[in-house]
Amino acid sequence: MTQHAVARLDQLDPNRPLRVQAGSEELILIRQGDLVHAYQANCPHAGAPLEEGVICSGLLVCPWHKAAFAVDEGAVCEPPALADLRRYRAWVKGDEVWVDDQPLAKAEPPRHSDARCFVVVGAGAAGSAAVATLLRHGFAGRLVWLDQEHQPAYDRTALSKFVIAGQMPPDEVPALLEADDLRKGHLIRQHGKVRTLNSEKRQIILADGQHIDYDACLLATGGKAQRPALPGADLPGVFTLRSREDAALLLDAAEPGQPVVIVGDGFIGLEAAAALRKYGLQVHLVTRHEVPLAKQLGERIGRSIRELHERKGVVFHGPTEVERFEGQAKVEAVLLANGERLQAPLVLLGTGVKPATAYVQGVALADDKSLPVNAEMRAAPGLWAAGDIATFPLADRPVRIEHWRLAQQHGVIAAANMLGEQRRYEDVPFFWTYQHGRTYEVLGHARDWNRIEFVGQPEQGDFVALQCVDEQVEAVIAKGYSDAMAQLSQRMKRPLRLDEALKLIG
Ligand SMILES: Cc1cc2nc3c(=O)[nH]c(=O)nc-3n(C[C@H](O)[C@H](O)[C@H](O)COP(=O)(O)OP(=O)(O)OC[C@H]3O[C@@H](n4cnc5c(N)ncnc54)[C@H](O)[C@@H]3O)c2cc1C
Ligand code: FES
Repeated sequence: MTQHAVARLDQLDPNRPLRVQAGSEELILIRQGDLVHAYQANCPHAGAPLEEGVICSGLLVCPWHKAAFAVDEGAVCEPPALADLRRYRAWVKGDEVWVDDQPLAKAEPPRHSDARCFVVVGAGAAGSAAVATLLRHGFAGRLVWLDQEHQPAYDRTALSKFVIAGQMPPDEVPALLEADDLRKGHLIRQHGKVRTLNSEKRQIILADGQHIDYDACLLATGGKAQRPALPGADLPGVFTLRSREDAALLLDAAEPGQPVVIVGDGFIGLEAAAALRKYGLQVHLVTRHEVPLAKQLGERIGRSIRELHERKGVVFHGPTEVERFEGQAKVEAVLLANGERLQAPLVLLGTGVKPATAYVQGVALADDKSLPVNAEMRAAPGLWAAGDIATFPLADRPVRIEHWRLAQQHGVIAAANMLGEQRRYEDVPFFWTYQHGRTYEVLGHARDWNRIEFVGQPEQGDFVALQCVDEQVEAVIAKGYSDAMAQLSQRMKRPLRLDEALKLIG
């Protein structure tokens, strides 16, 4: 280990980390009064440069997807990162900041003997965050982590952005937990599909007949991509996109230059349109709306997104609907209600998901087949639910939201509560989407907004849009404005007025 003088103390701004080089290690320095902390320079989630993050309320907030880390010890406090920052010894000598170039050893939590068995069903966003939390808290009982996929626990969000664009091989999609984490405690990763869960008996039966009795269980089985009940929807060549396997099959079938019809102008449909254009296909998007995403993001932003797609060569067909998919041995054409017939050997359905809860017994499901939970993510005694399958109270109103980071927030809270805490969902939903090289971010969840205020122009470049009910900010949509969005990810945990938000955005 070597010691390095890496900066002068007066170079450090208490609101912004500084990136420095210590031998071959890249670090960030954070000043807290007379103390200096040193951490790894890139976010453990997807590698964002943390010197572009913002320090607020004792947290370092990542510029990309708003993971938050405690400034004083680097502990991860909010997903999508699931690991603490590597920490390096740092000290001040005279006016110089010195660091070691090797990280400090990680302190492991004490593991007391524990006879309980916890089961986490689902190794997607929520399940992985829950398992990471249980292991970080030193849960020493038996922890069974089930999933029906052979190699689960990967970043599903990369599928529609990079994998089907041909930019990331399906087997190189980043894993959610590090191999070291998976060796902690009594973690048993098990491949298997849950056939029934009986909440009264606290018992799970797998498709192969195996029984698992549990003391506490988290259900995080996510959404099942829907195929519309239309003639030909099951023809070979008609794909959905949820899993790594789905993405690999779609990519195998896709040939640059050939036409593809994408059905649905939601986030998956639009991301897939951008990615498949990038891969060189002729993309036809069948939409029910004149303006995509108008309901979620407002007319003006939706229109600017449509124009972006059109500039990149995506052809919109709509407002209309599919009447049927035609073909003999495989799909050959899509017939639309407006009379158009689109010839294509490949179709991708972006027609929504249904909560994957068909196996649940003993708990009443909501009309949309989701599991209603309280703010502690509890569905029944000994049973928690998180992520896309959970209808939970947000500002006291029940809602189901399909967002990656939110599913992870749920998973963290549910896991803490399985261990006996009483944590409630008091966080801010966050969503991002990546289309034709642009990232749009949404903080909050506006249900009945009646007003939208802009800073910047969505048609031209970076902007922030504040969706409000009168003077109250409900959600913020942005392209760029990374500092403001990082600060808002924390500030929006409390009610925020429009004038204050505008001041913060600057
Ligand atoms: C292609 C794609 C891109 C996306 N991009 C974004 C994005 O950019 N930003 C964003 O915020 N959100 C995005 N989302 C949404 C986000 O991925 C979901 O909201 C999130 O994955 C929900 O997490 P979850 O844990 O509830 O479910 P999932 O992540 O879907 O995990 C559920 C797991 O449960 C397993 N499972 C299901 N049924 C069973 C069973 N019976 N037995 C055993 N295992 C079972 C599944 O195999 C799966 O591994 C995207 C979704 C998709 C499909
Ligand atoms: S890269 Fe930091 S939260 Fe995603």
